[in-house]
Amino acid sequence: MRKKMVAGNWKMNKNLQEGMALATELKNTIINPTCDVVIGTPFIHLASVAELLKDSPIQVAAENCADKEKGAYTGEVSAEMVASTGATYCILGHSERRAYYHETYEILKEKVLLALANNLAPIFCIGEVKEERESGVQNDVVKAQLEGSVFNLSKEDFGKIVLAYEPVWAIGTGLTATPQQAQEMHAYIRSLIAAKYGEEVADNTTILYGGSCNAKNAAELFANPDVDGGLIGGASLKAEDFAAIIAAR
Ligand code: 13P
Repeated sequence: MRKKMVAGNWKMNKNLQEGMALATELKNTIINPTCDVVIGTPFIHLASVAELLKDSPIQVAAENCADKEKGAYTGEVSAEMVASTGATYCILGHSERRAYYHETYEILKEKVLLALANNLAPIFCIGEVKEERESGVQNDVVKAQLEGSVFNLSKEDFGKIVLAYEPVWAIGTGLTATPQQAQEMHAYIRSLIAAKYGEEVADNTTILYGGSCNAKNAAELFANPDVDGGLIGGASLKAEDFAAIIAAR
């Protein structure tokens, strides 16, 4: 059985003290979740948050890592450094990284390989922009993103990644994909995985939905057979809202 998961993505929010306060609240609220719970925090929070949560069921993710192993890359943070904090996941391929920091399929391919080489499980994000949805090419876009950055992986390595379908038009906009749109795309993604790696790998791949997922709409999104959980932005910044989404999974 594939794992169910609710993951938070704090993005560039919360200073260290605020982040520690939120992580403490989550630690005290989320005691026996019925799904895997991950929080993605800025790099500077990782070591402190991972230490705080080491005896809790909540795991910690970075929101990015470098596409190089080590060396003279001022300002970058390597996958090895991320892993050394106690984080176990790494969000990669987020549409904000693709759009604002020009992360290409090739760059993301390197990041995924480096994360895996350092025992970090990638939460790999894919999804189309509004114009692509409007012109009906969303399936082609998502297929190209998978082929460009993760379908090079061995079956064993592919089995370690979590996918997140995040339609860009739904991120931070309050425009959620309908449960039917989410299910259709998740089923399509699973069919691509089956064609590439076989039914068993496809059945075992966790595919999250992200994009204006909140305490109100989470249950109907998660009720779809191919939606295994959520990647939550804004609503992961309040312990109460995030806990409610976890309870809906
Ligand atoms: P929102 O939940 O704020 O729409 O963000 C989703 C997202 O980008 C998670 O990675």
